[in-house]
Amino acid sequence: MNFRRLSAYKTPSEFQEQQKNLQIEIPIHVEQLEAQKALLSKPLPLRERTIKERTIGNRFAVLPMEGWDGTTDGRPTELTKARWRHFGQSTAKLIWGGEAVAVRPDGRANPNQLMISPDTMTDLEELKQILSKAHEEACGQTDDLYIGLQLTHSGRFARPYNKNKLESKILYNHPLLDNKFQLGEHHPILSDSEIDDLIGDFIIAAKRAAELGFDFVDIKHCHGYLGHEFLSAVDRPGKYGGSLENRMRFLSSIVAGIRSEAPQLDVGVRLSSADLLPFVKGENNLGEMATWPPQTPNSESLKGGISSNLEKQEQTEYRYAFGGNNHGSGFDLSEPIAFLQACVKLGISLVCLSLGCPYYNPHLTRPAMFPPSDGYLPPEDPLVGVARHINIAKSLKQMVPSLLMVGSGYSYLQEWLPQVAASVLQLGWIDSVGLGRMMLSYPQFPSDFLAGRELQRKKICRTFSDCTTAPRNGMVSGCYPLDPEYKNRPEMIELAKIKSKK
Ligand SMILES: Cc1cc2nc3c(=O)[nH]c(=O)nc-3n(C[C@H](O)[C@H](O)[C@H](O)COP(=O)(O)O)c2cc1C
Repeated sequence: MNFRRLSAYKTPSEFQEQQKNLQIEIPIHVEQLEAQKALLSKPLPLRERTIKERTIGNRFAVLPMEGWDGTTDGRPTELTKARWRHFGQSTAKLIWGGEAVAVRPDGRANPNQLMISPDTMTDLEELKQILSKAHEEACGQTDDLYIGLQLTHSGRFARPYNKNKLESKILYNHPLLDNKFQLGEHHPILSDSEIDDLIGDFIIAAKRAAELGFDFVDIKHCHGYLGHEFLSAVDRPGKYGGSLENRMRFLSSIVAGIRSEAPQLDVGVRLSSADLLPFVKGENNLGEMATWPPQTPNSESLKGGISSNLEKQEQTEYRYAFGGNNHGSGFDLSEPIAFLQACVKLGISLVCLSLGCPYYNPHLTRPAMFPPSDGYLPPEDPLVGVARHINIAKSLKQMVPSLLMVGSGYSYLQEWLPQVAASVLQLGWIDSVGLGRMMLSYPQFPSDFLAGRELQRKKICRTFSDCTTAPRNGMVSGCYPLDPEYKNRPEMIELAKIKSKK
């Protein structure tokens, strides 16, 4: 399917016309550059929301972006340091977690993921210092810079010791994903006491992050990783499954532990606030939703059929999409709203909203024109994906206004990003605009924009997805098409071969 490239829309009315065609709403009413700048540079007070009385200096946030480039004992390499330096140089004042950092070895999404442990403390401290120093050099002050560390266990998507070997830790048998990822019928399920231990590991990790001077930790609940899987553990018996209160017990126990062990540390949560059924490659490699319920026990609808679990249950409802309707085909935000209201009660100060899971519906998480090698051709104009992020965030912000909310999924907007960002900020649909892939191709995007310099078009992320294709094929991530540091790396040849085979 061919979609018109965004750069082809030269005027707001052309852009609006396309929105009408697509039946979406992405606000772009703040047209004047000065007005956009004023909105994006407006400080964001943290007072009354968090433990520390602080102000975040502007409305740009750096989303967590890992590089699959740490050492196998969880330390940063020069590539990792360069990325964090760029985050600091960007002049964005909220650093949402830096990147996913595993709380213990078996929780790594890949053998090169960072870890927080007694052995890596000095390295993580250096990483934070690199970022702060670069930030100070770029804009002269760091007292309004707010830095978090994203703590994770990768759960179902853990590949801790071998890039090619999933060593999933699961909370329940998923009727589709167990087969898609070939877990086998007897794959063990984490027991309640193993979860109790893991909670302890998160609390220790948070305490370490506080010692390193991070302002907050993000207890990651997005993208199919363990925290997110809790939220769909509707069938799991016992204290961690079933009711929403039970599915949030992992989070609430960690927060209680942090309150007692590191009372000065703020807590945030990155949430996949809504989800759909997994997608599969359909005709002509186009993404399409997996059939639910599958037509026959041997259905090929999800490459590998369905699990015996499903055969036994003869289910018709799809209950495993947190924030999804009962068919997995649309959204019902009542549980995400209840989750966020519970976060307020727990004293959680800020949330970063994302969607879906990059392993089974990547177009939800990262609207893109070009798919990664393990993806599918976009089933919709990527603008629809951006509008979904913006409008779900709007609904959540309206229902839980006291939580500070950071949005995701804006990189696809390219040249239109500042105008949309300023408009959603003005409308109060979000408090801070997160940048992910744009940070890899063009980390100076916020600084150029806020300083009134013309945007450098050749650096703007065009969502080629090489930053995902590379790690999916065992290579470090980065912006291969646009960042000269990556363009000239040997991996570029391998990447070109992989792409030519598609
Ligand atoms: C290469 C790459 C690495 C990422 N690493 C992380 C991560 O460590 N933690 C996380 O929560 N999300 C991660 N994400 C998701 C991004 O933070 C972000 O949600 C996504 O790219 C959509 O935002 P964007 O449109 O600005 O890129 C990653 C995405 C990419 C492409």
